[in-house]
Amino acid sequence: MMMIAMKTETTVTKSSLKNIKAGLLVLPFSVKSLKKDAPKVLGALGLNDRALKDFKAAAGDTLLFYPGGASVKASRVLLLGIGEGAATEDYRKAGTSVARQAATCEVQSVAVDASSIVEWSARSALSLEDIAELLTGSILNATYRFDRLKSGKMEKDKKKKKASYEGISRLIFRVNAGSIKDVEKGTVSGMVIAESQGVARDLVNLPGNLLNAVDIARYASESAEKHGYTATVFDKDAIDHLGMGGLMAVNKGSKEPPTFTILDYNPGEKSKGTVALVGKGVTFDSGGISIKPANGMDEMKCDMAGAAVVIATVEAAARLGLEYRILGFIPSTDNMPGGAAQKPGDVITTYSGITVEVGNTDAEGRLILADALSYAIETYKPDTIIDLATLTGACIVALGYGVAGMFSNDDNLAAALYDAGQVSGEKVWRLPLWDEYDELIKSEVADVHNTGGRGAGTITAAKFLQNFIGDHKHWAHIDIAGPAFSGKAGAKAHGGTGFGVSLLLDFLRNM
Ligand code: BES
Ligand code: MN
Ligand code: ZN
Repeated sequence: MMMIAMKTETTVTKSSLKNIKAGLLVLPFSVKSLKKDAPKVLGALGLNDRALKDFKAAAGDTLLFYPGGASVKASRVLLLGIGEGAATEDYRKAGTSVARQAATCEVQSVAVDASSIVEWSARSALSLEDIAELLTGSILNATYRFDRLKSGKMEKDKKKKKASYEGISRLIFRVNAGSIKDVEKGTVSGMVIAESQGVARDLVNLPGNLLNAVDIARYASESAEKHGYTATVFDKDAIDHLGMGGLMAVNKGSKEPPTFTILDYNPGEKSKGTVALVGKGVTFDSGGISIKPANGMDEMKCDMAGAAVVIATVEAAARLGLEYRILGFIPSTDNMPGGAAQKPGDVITTYSGITVEVGNTDAEGRLILADALSYAIETYKPDTIIDLATLTGACIVALGYGVAGMFSNDDNLAAALYDAGQVSGEKVWRLPLWDEYDELIKSEVADVHNTGGRGAGTITAAKFLQNFIGDHKHWAHIDIAGPAFSGKAGAKAHGGTGFGVSLLLDFLRNM
């Protein structure tokens, strides 16, 4: 399995707007700067400012010009709204619009006028670097497409086939001399973040026949090698010998072996602590013997989105040189029916020794996470542990497709994740872990039951997981079943969204 990294070259220049050669020259304006600056800027470029009455500069608004004379070297000029320019969301919306316009015009080089970035910084609580990172990151993330499985063989129109648009290959920022260093730094980190989101999205978009547990482990190992961290892969025998009964049980119906991968980014002496990230890596979830309905089952290739986010985040942490040791734990398998599959009613023994009655084989994510959580805590004693999983359909019922459910036994950790959600735009909403819910997952025959009946399905899943963290005091569980994958064509992003990468990076960088 090959991962094709997006390759965009970024440049920061102080040359004049007129002289910048690009397919698209982007002129961002805040609502406030529009009246004051826009006529001047347009005038200097020989553009007619009467068009301004059609442009309000709300975040993400655009207005496209085709300059006639020789006063601008760029072939198109795009007015871009950044709204108040006060919130991260303003810049993210703006960046997304730029990418959309570039795709519509099939433009390969885009130049953004960031001459006013000092003013933007003053009106937001954001540094120049933050803003450059946000714009770069959102532009590049919005250029993402998953087309590697298209051969082009059926494209009748030869010309179209040849000219297939490859995205933005050159991104230029125009700034004043004093801002160059900061903006350069921001464009580099923005690119790293967008590439990591691309990794997560690729992994989610690859279907079950092209990405199995061994492939996940292999991708993690290649990434580790390339980006200066380590990956250790346990194969089926090792998993069995360790006593990971949850992962082994879910794997029973499969023809393909499970893997358990440990990623370790260690910055050495500058490390301020250890954070463990655990990601559900079910490469395809058929439900097992408790099989799912056919309709929409194909979307269950997304059931390793937690794993994808963890791999992408550790990769980004290493590339950005974060000052924490970041560990990743990926239990991976598919969940299949078959002659050897686990059966509803089976009782299994997890890594911790806790026994589980498997009432429903479709509640498989919590079984493999149980092993991973106990193993990570016992073996590495991390200061903080966060798991991410496409765990329950009930979370979608509760919070919809845009927002993740969040649980924590630590109010400070919950608050920090909430804040990171607001800033990154990848929002999480906290749900309770009250003891009352333990009633619902009591088992007559084992220590605990893997399903809790109709009510509070997201909460009972989280309560189940809580049994496997021992007395760890800083744990959070994030249920990304809703936002990880967008099934509807024409939605903001079709397929894997990479939800969680930006959230975790924001959280880790502000810790
Ligand atoms: N992978 C699913 C949850 C899911 C649903 C993810 C929709 C993404 C979109 C999970 O393994 C599952 O099947 N959960 C069951 C639990 C139930 C059997 C207790 C569910 O949500 O129905
Ligand atoms: Mn399931
Ligand atoms: Zn699942």
